[in-house]
Amino acid sequence: MKNETYLVTGANSGMGFETARLLAARGATVIGTGRSEERLAAAGRELEGVELVRSDAASAKDIEALAARFAPKSLNGVFVNAGMATFRPFEQATLDQFDSTFALNVRGPFLLLQKLSEAIVDGGSVVINTTIANRKGFPSTSIYAASKGALRSLARVLAAEWASRGIRVNCVAPGPVDTPIYGKVGLAAGDVAELKAGWGSQVPLGRMGTSEEVARMVVFLLGEEGSFVTGAEIDVDGGVVAA
Ligand SMILES: NC(=O)c1ccc[n+]([C@@H]2O[C@H](COP(=O)([O-])OP(=O)(O)OC[C@H]3O[C@@H](n4cnc5c(N)ncnc54)[C@H](OP(=O)(O)O)[C@@H]3O)[C@@H](O)[C@H]2O)c1
Repeated sequence: MKNETYLVTGANSGMGFETARLLAARGATVIGTGRSEERLAAAGRELEGVELVRSDAASAKDIEALAARFAPKSLNGVFVNAGMATFRPFEQATLDQFDSTFALNVRGPFLLLQKLSEAIVDGGSVVINTTIANRKGFPSTSIYAASKGALRSLARVLAAEWASRGIRVNCVAPGPVDTPIYGKVGLAAGDVAELKAGWGSQVPLGRMGTSEEVARMVVFLLGEEGSFVTGAEIDVDGGVVAA
Protein backbone atom coordinates (compact mmCIF):
# COMPACT_ATOMS: atom_id res chain seq x y z
CA MET A 1 0.00 0.00 0.00
CA LYS A 2 3.00 2.24 -0.49
CA ASN A 3 2.20 5.57 -2.18
CA GLU A 4 -1.47 5.14 -1.23
CA THR A 5 -3.50 7.35 1.11
CA TYR A 6 -6.31 6.21 3.39
CA LEU A 7 -8.71 7.98 5.73
CA VAL A 8 -9.94 6.19 8.85
CA THR A 9 -12.65 7.83 10.96
CA GLY A 10 -12.63 7.02 14.65
CA ALA A 11 -8.96 6.03 14.58
CA ASN A 12 -8.07 6.81 18.16
CA SER A 13 -9.61 3.63 19.57
CA GLY A 14 -10.76 0.08 18.90
CA MET A 15 -11.18 -1.15 15.33
CA GLY A 16 -10.32 2.19 13.72
CA PHE A 17 -7.09 2.36 15.70
CA GLU A 18 -6.03 -1.16 14.66
CA THR A 19 -6.98 -0.54 11.02
CA ALA A 20 -4.94 2.68 10.94
CA ARG A 21 -2.02 0.82 12.48
CA LEU A 22 -2.22 -2.03 9.95
CA LEU A 23 -2.53 0.32 6.95
CA ALA A 24 0.49 2.31 8.15
CA ALA A 25 2.43 -0.93 8.67
CA ARG A 26 1.72 -1.77 5.03
CA GLY A 27 3.32 1.48 3.96
CA ALA A 28 0.21 3.63 3.41
CA THR A 29 -0.13 7.28 4.33
CA VAL A 30 -2.95 7.31 6.89
CA ILE A 31 -5.08 10.15 8.20
CA GLY A 32 -7.15 9.21 11.22
CA THR A 33 -9.85 11.14 13.02
CA GLY A 34 -11.41 11.20 16.45
CA ARG A 35 -13.37 13.55 18.63
CA SER A 36 -11.67 13.46 22.02
CA GLU A 37 -8.42 15.49 22.12
CA GLU A 38 -7.22 13.38 25.03
CA ARG A 39 -7.77 10.05 23.25
CA LEU A 40 -6.27 11.46 20.04
CA ALA A 41 -3.14 12.48 21.91
CA ALA A 42 -2.90 9.06 23.58
CA ALA A 43 -3.36 7.27 20.26
CA GLY A 44 -0.80 9.56 18.63
CA ARG A 45 1.82 8.31 21.07
CA GLU A 46 1.19 4.72 19.92
CA LEU A 47 0.32 5.05 16.24
CA GLU A 48 3.42 5.47 14.15
CA GLY A 49 3.02 7.04 10.73
CA VAL A 50 -0.62 8.08 11.21
CA GLU A 51 -1.67 11.73 11.13
CA LEU A 52 -4.46 12.20 13.65
CA VAL A 53 -6.87 15.10 13.30
CA ARG A 54 -9.76 16.18 15.47
CA SER A 55 -13.00 15.98 13.52
CA ASP A 56 -16.47 15.36 14.87
CA ALA A 57 -18.01 12.74 12.58
CA ALA A 58 -21.50 14.06 13.33
CA SER A 59 -20.73 17.70 12.54
CA ALA A 60 -21.37 18.91 8.99
CA LYS A 61 -18.85 21.72 9.48
CA ASP A 62 -16.10 19.34 10.64
CA ILE A 63 -16.90 16.84 7.87
CA GLU A 64 -16.66 19.51 5.21
CA ALA A 65 -13.34 20.76 6.63
CA LEU A 66 -12.01 17.20 6.74
CA ALA A 67 -13.02 16.46 3.15
CA ALA A 68 -11.46 19.74 1.99
CA ARG A 69 -8.03 18.43 3.06
CA PHE A 70 -8.06 15.98 0.17
CA ALA A 71 -7.33 17.08 -3.40
CA PRO A 72 -9.32 15.51 -6.25
CA LYS A 73 -8.21 11.91 -6.91
CA SER A 74 -5.88 11.81 -3.91
CA LEU A 75 -7.55 9.25 -1.67
CA ASN A 76 -7.24 5.50 -2.30
CA GLY A 77 -9.66 4.41 0.37
CA VAL A 78 -11.79 5.28 3.37
CA PHE A 79 -12.78 3.28 6.44
CA VAL A 80 -16.02 4.87 7.67
CA ASN A 81 -15.82 3.60 11.21
CA ALA A 82 -16.68 6.26 13.80
CA GLY A 83 -19.95 5.30 15.39
CA MET A 84 -21.87 4.99 18.60
CA ALA A 85 -24.28 2.61 20.28
CA THR A 86 -26.89 3.14 22.95
CA PHE A 87 -28.69 0.12 24.31
CA ARG A 88 -32.12 0.47 25.91
CA PRO A 89 -35.37 -1.48 25.84
CA PHE A 90 -37.60 -0.08 23.09
CA GLU A 91 -40.02 1.74 25.43
CA GLN A 92 -37.15 3.49 27.21
CA ALA A 93 -35.28 4.60 24.10
CA THR A 94 -35.49 8.35 23.60
CA LEU A 95 -35.70 10.72 20.65
CA ASP A 96 -32.44 12.32 21.78
CA GLN A 97 -30.75 8.94 21.49
CA PHE A 98 -32.37 8.39 18.14
CA ASP A 99 -31.24 11.76 16.80
CA SER A 100 -27.67 11.60 18.10
CA THR A 101 -27.22 8.01 16.91
CA PHE A 102 -28.55 8.70 13.43
CA ALA A 103 -26.54 11.95 13.22
CA LEU A 104 -23.30 10.05 13.80
CA ASN A 105 -24.04 6.63 12.30
CA VAL A 106 -26.02 7.67 9.20
CA ARG A 107 -26.08 11.41 8.45
CA GLY A 108 -22.33 11.84 9.05
CA PRO A 109 -21.23 8.96 6.77
CA PHE A 110 -23.70 10.12 4.10
CA LEU A 111 -22.21 13.62 4.08
CA LEU A 112 -18.61 12.45 4.40
CA LEU A 113 -18.82 10.12 1.40
CA GLN A 114 -20.68 12.72 -0.65
CA LYS A 115 -17.98 15.31 0.10
CA LEU A 116 -15.17 12.80 -0.60
CA SER A 117 -16.62 11.67 -3.92
CA GLU A 118 -14.17 13.80 -5.95
CA ALA A 119 -11.22 12.95 -3.74
CA ILE A 120 -11.52 9.17 -4.03
CA VAL A 121 -9.52 7.78 -6.95
CA ASP A 122 -11.20 5.71 -9.63
CA GLY A 123 -10.52 2.12 -8.59
CA GLY A 124 -10.53 3.18 -4.92
CA SER A 125 -12.34 1.48 -2.07
CA VAL A 126 -14.67 2.28 0.82
CA VAL A 127 -15.37 0.08 3.82
CA ILE A 128 -18.17 0.96 6.22
CA ASN A 129 -18.40 -0.44 9.74
CA THR A 130 -21.95 -1.72 10.31
CA THR A 131 -22.81 -4.56 12.74
CA ILE A 132 -24.47 -7.96 12.74
CA ALA A 133 -27.16 -6.30 14.89
CA ASN A 134 -28.69 -4.93 11.68
CA ARG A 135 -29.73 -8.49 10.80
CA LYS A 136 -30.35 -10.10 14.22
CA GLY A 137 -32.99 -8.98 16.68
CA PHE A 138 -30.87 -8.36 19.76
CA PRO A 139 -33.10 -6.85 22.46
CA SER A 140 -32.38 -3.22 23.47
CA THR A 141 -30.57 -2.38 20.23
CA SER A 142 -33.49 -0.90 18.27
CA ILE A 143 -31.98 2.54 17.52
CA TYR A 144 -28.46 1.25 16.95
CA ALA A 145 -29.57 -1.63 14.72
CA ALA A 146 -31.85 0.64 12.68
CA SER A 147 -29.05 3.17 12.14
CA LYS A 148 -26.62 0.53 10.94
CA GLY A 149 -29.30 -1.02 8.75
CA ALA A 150 -29.68 2.35 7.06
CA LEU A 151 -25.92 2.53 6.61
CA ARG A 152 -25.83 -0.91 5.07
CA SER A 153 -28.51 0.16 2.55
CA LEU A 154 -26.57 3.31 1.74
CA ALA A 155 -23.48 1.21 1.04
CA ARG A 156 -25.38 -1.06 -1.34
CA VAL A 157 -26.63 1.87 -3.42
CA LEU A 158 -23.25 3.58 -3.42
CA ALA A 159 -21.60 0.36 -4.60
CA ALA A 160 -23.97 0.41 -7.59
CA GLU A 161 -23.49 4.12 -8.31
CA TRP A 162 -19.69 4.10 -8.00
CA ALA A 163 -19.08 0.80 -9.79
CA SER A 164 -18.67 2.67 -13.08
CA ARG A 165 -15.66 4.42 -11.52
CA GLY A 166 -14.30 1.10 -10.27
CA ILE A 167 -14.80 2.20 -6.67
CA ARG A 168 -15.77 -0.70 -4.43
CA VAL A 169 -18.03 -0.10 -1.43
CA ASN A 170 -18.36 -2.81 1.20
CA CYS A 171 -19.39 -3.20 4.81
CA VAL A 172 -17.72 -5.09 7.57
CA ALA A 173 -20.26 -6.34 10.13
CA PRO A 174 -18.57 -7.15 13.42
CA GLY A 175 -20.15 -9.34 16.05
CA PRO A 176 -19.22 -8.64 19.66
CA VAL A 177 -15.70 -7.21 19.63
CA ASP A 178 -13.92 -6.23 22.82
CA THR A 179 -13.32 -2.50 22.41
CA PRO A 180 -13.79 0.58 24.64
CA ILE A 181 -17.21 1.17 23.02
CA TYR A 182 -18.96 -0.88 25.73
CA GLY A 183 -17.86 1.69 28.30
CA LYS A 184 -19.68 4.37 26.28
CA VAL A 185 -23.14 2.80 25.88
CA GLY A 186 -24.58 4.36 29.02
CA LEU A 187 -24.31 1.32 31.32
CA ALA A 188 -22.67 1.00 34.74
CA ALA A 189 -19.29 -0.80 34.79
CA GLY A 190 -20.76 -3.98 36.33
CA ASP A 191 -23.49 -4.09 33.70
CA VAL A 192 -20.88 -3.66 30.95
CA ALA A 193 -18.94 -6.67 32.27
CA GLU A 194 -22.18 -8.69 32.36
CA LEU A 195 -23.13 -7.58 28.83
CA LYS A 196 -19.70 -8.52 27.47
CA ALA A 197 -19.70 -11.90 29.18
CA GLY A 198 -23.24 -12.59 27.94
CA TRP A 199 -22.44 -11.66 24.36
CA GLY A 200 -19.16 -13.54 24.40
CA SER A 201 -20.95 -16.69 25.52
CA GLN A 202 -23.36 -16.48 22.55
CA VAL A 203 -20.51 -16.60 20.06
CA PRO A 204 -19.98 -20.07 18.55
CA LEU A 205 -16.21 -19.53 18.70
CA GLY A 206 -16.71 -18.96 22.44
CA ARG A 207 -15.31 -15.46 22.84
CA MET A 208 -15.55 -11.86 21.76
CA GLY A 209 -13.47 -10.83 18.77
CA THR A 210 -10.52 -8.47 18.83
CA SER A 211 -10.07 -5.19 16.98
CA GLU A 212 -7.13 -6.71 15.08
CA GLU A 213 -9.36 -9.46 13.70
CA VAL A 214 -11.74 -6.87 12.25
CA ALA A 215 -8.89 -4.65 11.02
CA ARG A 216 -7.48 -7.53 8.96
CA MET A 217 -10.81 -7.91 7.12
CA VAL A 218 -11.07 -4.16 6.58
CA VAL A 219 -7.60 -4.01 5.06
CA PHE A 220 -8.41 -7.05 2.90
CA LEU A 221 -11.50 -5.26 1.55
CA LEU A 222 -9.73 -1.91 1.13
CA GLY A 223 -6.79 -3.36 -0.76
CA GLU A 224 -6.01 -5.48 -3.77
CA GLU A 225 -7.07 -8.74 -2.07
CA GLY A 226 -10.68 -7.57 -2.22
CA SER A 227 -10.57 -6.49 -5.86
CA PHE A 228 -13.74 -8.36 -6.95
CA VAL A 229 -15.81 -7.71 -3.83
CA THR A 230 -18.30 -4.86 -3.83
CA GLY A 231 -21.72 -4.20 -2.35
CA ALA A 232 -21.06 -6.92 0.22
CA GLU A 233 -21.37 -7.01 3.97
CA ILE A 234 -18.85 -9.39 5.49
CA ASP A 235 -19.56 -10.74 8.97
CA VAL A 236 -16.61 -10.90 11.34
CA ASP A 237 -18.57 -12.40 14.18
CA GLY A 238 -17.21 -15.74 15.30
CA GLY A 239 -20.22 -17.43 13.74
CA VAL A 240 -23.11 -15.61 15.48
CA VAL A 241 -25.18 -14.93 12.35
CA ALA A 242 -24.63 -18.41 10.98
CA ALA A 243 -25.62 -20.15 14.24
N1 LIG B 1 -17.37 -3.25 19.50
C1 LIG B 1 -18.35 -3.96 18.94
O1 LIG B 1 -18.73 -5.01 19.44
C2 LIG B 1 -18.95 -3.49 17.64
C3 LIG B 1 -19.74 -4.40 16.95
C4 LIG B 1 -20.28 -4.03 15.73
C5 LIG B 1 -20.02 -2.78 15.21
N2 LIG B 1 -19.25 -1.91 15.91
C6 LIG B 1 -18.97 -0.60 15.29
O2 LIG B 1 -17.57 -0.43 15.19
C7 LIG B 1 -17.27 0.98 15.09
C8 LIG B 1 -16.06 1.26 15.96
O3 LIG B 1 -16.38 0.98 17.30
P1 LIG B 1 -15.38 0.33 18.33
O4 LIG B 1 -16.06 -0.85 18.91
O5 LIG B 1 -14.01 0.19 17.76
O6 LIG B 1 -15.45 1.44 19.49
P2 LIG B 1 -14.48 2.50 20.09
O7 LIG B 1 -13.19 1.87 20.52
O8 LIG B 1 -15.27 3.22 21.10
O9 LIG B 1 -14.16 3.45 18.85
C9 LIG B 1 -15.11 4.32 18.35
C10 LIG B 1 -14.36 5.39 17.59
O10 LIG B 1 -15.31 6.28 17.02
C11 LIG B 1 -14.95 7.59 17.41
N3 LIG B 1 -16.10 8.46 17.51
C12 LIG B 1 -17.23 8.28 18.23
N4 LIG B 1 -18.02 9.35 18.08
C13 LIG B 1 -17.36 10.21 17.26
C14 LIG B 1 -17.65 11.48 16.73
N5 LIG B 1 -18.79 12.12 16.99
N6 LIG B 1 -16.72 12.05 15.92
C15 LIG B 1 -15.56 11.43 15.62
N7 LIG B 1 -15.22 10.24 16.10
C16 LIG B 1 -16.13 9.65 16.92
C17 LIG B 1 -14.29 7.47 18.75
O11 LIG B 1 -13.53 8.61 18.99
P3 LIG B 1 -13.65 9.35 20.43
O12 LIG B 1 -13.14 8.33 21.40
O13 LIG B 1 -12.75 10.52 20.28
O14 LIG B 1 -15.08 9.68 20.62
C18 LIG B 1 -13.46 6.22 18.50
O15 LIG B 1 -12.27 6.53 17.83
C19 LIG B 1 -18.55 1.71 15.48
O16 LIG B 1 -19.15 2.23 14.31
C20 LIG B 1 -19.42 0.61 16.07
O17 LIG B 1 -20.78 0.85 15.90
C21 LIG B 1 -18.73 -2.23 17.12
